[in-house]
Amino acid sequence: MDRSYQLRHLSIAPALVLAPMSGVTCSPFRRLIKELNPGHVGLVVSEFISVEGLTRQSQRSRDMMRFHENERPYGVQIFGYDVDRMRDAALMVQDCGADLVDINCGCPAPKVVKRGGGCELMRQPEHLQKIIAAVRKAVSIPLTLKMRSGWCEESQNALEIARMCEQEGVEALAIHGRTRAQLYRGLADWSVVERIAEQVSIPVLGSGDVCDRASAETRLRGKIAGLFIGRAAMENPFVFSVVRGQAVPDLRRSPALVLNVLWRYIELLREEFPDRAVVGRFKQLVTQMCRGYDWRKDICRASTLAEQLDIIQGVRARLEDRNYSVSSVAGCVTSC
Ligand SMILES: Cc1cc2nc3c(=O)[nH]c(=O)nc-3n(C[C@H](O)[C@H](O)[C@H](O)COP(=O)(O)O)c2cc1C
Repeated sequence: MDRSYQLRHLSIAPALVLAPMSGVTCSPFRRLIKELNPGHVGLVVSEFISVEGLTRQSQRSRDMMRFHENERPYGVQIFGYDVDRMRDAALMVQDCGADLVDINCGCPAPKVVKRGGGCELMRQPEHLQKIIAAVRKAVSIPLTLKMRSGWCEESQNALEIARMCEQEGVEALAIHGRTRAQLYRGLADWSVVERIAEQVSIPVLGSGDVCDRASAETRLRGKIAGLFIGRAAMENPFVFSVVRGQAVPDLRRSPALVLNVLWRYIELLREEFPDRAVVGRFKQLVTQMCRGYDWRKDICRASTLAEQLDIIQGVRARLEDRNYSVSSVAGCVTSC
C-alpha cells in the first residue's frame, strides 16, 4: 500500500487515514496510533464535533478540536445543519490551526439525523449545497466531506452528491459503503466507492471493513485514492503497519506488548482528560484490543482509574514473574 494523494500543499502519504470515530479518536488515541505506526498513518481526523456546541462556545466542543503538532496532517470533522453555524464552526476549525475541515454526512445516529445533521444531509442535497458553498467561501484550508452510499437501499445518491461536492469546491471525499439504514450491518459495498472514484476528478477514499493487509489490497481498486481505517485500529492499534506490510507480533500472544500499549495509552489519556473520563476511554480500547485475556473483564468492571491501574500493575507483576520483559512502548514498537 504505497498510494498517496495531494490536498493542495498537504501530502497524504501513505493514503491511509485514521477514520473519525466519535468517543474514540480523541487526541490521545490519535497520538497513540501515530506513535505505534510511525510513517504509516497519512492523516488523522478528530471525532465529529457539533457546530451547535462550537458556535455556542461550549468548552467541551472547543477542547475536542485540540491537537498536538505531531498529529499533523490533522483534520477536524464538524456536523450540524444550520448553514451559518456550519460556516462559523469551519472558521473556528481553521483558526485552531487544523490542516483541513471535514463535513460529516454519514452519521446514522437518531439524535444527529433528527436535527438535520449527519446522513440526513444526503437526503437534502440542495441544503447541503448551501452549506458547502458557505463553508467553501469562508475558509481557505482544504475542505473534505465524508458520507455513506446513501440513506437506504432505494436511495443511494452518493454519486450525485459527489458530483455536487466537486462542483462546489470540496477537495476530497470519503465514502463509507453502507447506507444509513444498514448502520454497521453486513459488509460495506466498495463497488460504490470504485464507481464514484471513476466519475469525479477529486480524490475519493473508501471506508469500511479494512482490518489487515489482505482486506486493504482487495479494496484498494481502480482509482480509489486511499483507505480509511476505523474499528480495526481499536482491535489492533498496529493495523496501519500491518496494512503496510510490516511484521507486527500477534497481540493475542504478546501480553507484554499489549500491556505496554495500554500503559502508554493511559499516560496519553491522563495528559488530556480528568480521571473519570480516562476510565471510560481506557475501557473502550481494552474491550476491543484485549480479547482472550482473562483480566479484560476486570478492567472493564473497574469504576475508578486507581482500580484500573492496580489491575494493570498486577498483570505486569505476573508477567515479570514469568520473565517477560515489560519495557517501554517505544522498545516494543522497534522490536516489531
Ligand atoms: C464508534 C464509532 C464512532 C464513529 N464516529 C464517526 C464520526 O464521528 N464521524 C464519521 O464520519 N464516522 C464515524 N464513524 C464511522 C467510521 O469513520 C467508519 O466510516 C466506519 O466505522 C466504517 O469503517 P471501519 O469498518 O474501518 O470501522 C464511527 C464509527 C464507529 C464504530
